[in-house]
Amino acid sequence: MFKKELEVTLHKASADQVKPKPDQNSLGFGQFFTDHMFTMRWNRNNGWHDAAIEPYHSFAMDPAAMVFHYGQAIFEGMKAYRGKDDQIFLFRPADNFTRMNQSAVRMCMPRFPQERVLQALRAMVYLDQEWVPRAPGSTLYIRPTMIAVEPALGLRPAEEYLFFIISCPVGAYYAEGFAPTRIYVEDKYVRAVPGGVGNAKTAGNYAASVKAQVEAHDKGYTQVLWLDAVERRYVEEVGTSNIFFLINNELITPPLEGSILPGITRDSVLQLARDWGYQVSERRITIDEVVAAGKDGSLKESFGTGTAAVISPVGELCYREQHVKINGGATGALAKRLFEELQAIQFGYLDDAHKWRVRVG
Ligand code: COI
Repeated sequence: MFKKELEVTLHKASADQVKPKPDQNSLGFGQFFTDHMFTMRWNRNNGWHDAAIEPYHSFAMDPAAMVFHYGQAIFEGMKAYRGKDDQIFLFRPADNFTRMNQSAVRMCMPRFPQERVLQALRAMVYLDQEWVPRAPGSTLYIRPTMIAVEPALGLRPAEEYLFFIISCPVGAYYAEGFAPTRIYVEDKYVRAVPGGVGNAKTAGNYAASVKAQVEAHDKGYTQVLWLDAVERRYVEEVGTSNIFFLINNELITPPLEGSILPGITRDSVLQLARDWGYQVSERRITIDEVVAAGKDGSLKESFGTGTAAVISPVGELCYREQHVKINGGATGALAKRLFEELQAIQFGYLDDAHKWRVRVG
């Protein structure tokens, strides 16, 4: 399917291109970018070509580049972790690239050679290893992205694409860190519709979600809980994360039926909870069931899962003026255990029973 093995050239940043490192204790999220990036291009005649690890740089693009007009853009979020004995690890990177190729198919974009790109990513992280932060809980966030760059305004799949990977040292995604968030249940706006692109990691999904996020912020909430677009009853996601509820001993998350992003942290949490003997259900759950369980005390915990946010406990839900406090507004024991276990695996301090870690270098 790929014309020939992709060659990746390496141009190291020169001394004057190397940037000063930011203060590791105030990294925020996605504000400082490392010295190198990966790029490659695609067109119909040559397939993927011109692959290179290069000094971080800006792009010059034609204003008619199709991504600016019709939004053919997909991305991923993954992390590199500096852990035990100063080793650097990636977490399930092949799963991110598999998902990115699934997003590509949905958006009529070309698939890319995953294994080759993973090799290039490992080389890039190795080259930028001094950027992988050491402050507790901090990581190097990695953003693979593909955009349509053909200059043309007819609506059809573009015939030229640019793929790039940039990376940035990050702290916690939410200002709350691992502290519980306050979540507004959104029943006016929707995130994704059946048959739409909710299960693809495409830029437009995020653009479309910002309005609800801004309105929730203005009301004093961290994020929104999305309901299904048809009946506005079934819970789908929380902000940019997958959502879990612990009701009695049943750990519930909505099933992957097309409008939900198949999260890699979601999948890891399902696996760990099964390993620990929880009754785990990927099933539809209505907001009414959640609120009722909140009122009768059977809703023990709720948390979001995602690469950026890791495990993000929900301390309170607001649905149509009803306020449901979860676990007294405190982080629950399962969320804490999952967070600690995942971090211990990601940073290399625990046995990697599921072969999720990939060492860099
Ligand atoms: C991630 O969790 O990696 C995401 O892509 C969400 C993004 C809005 C930071």
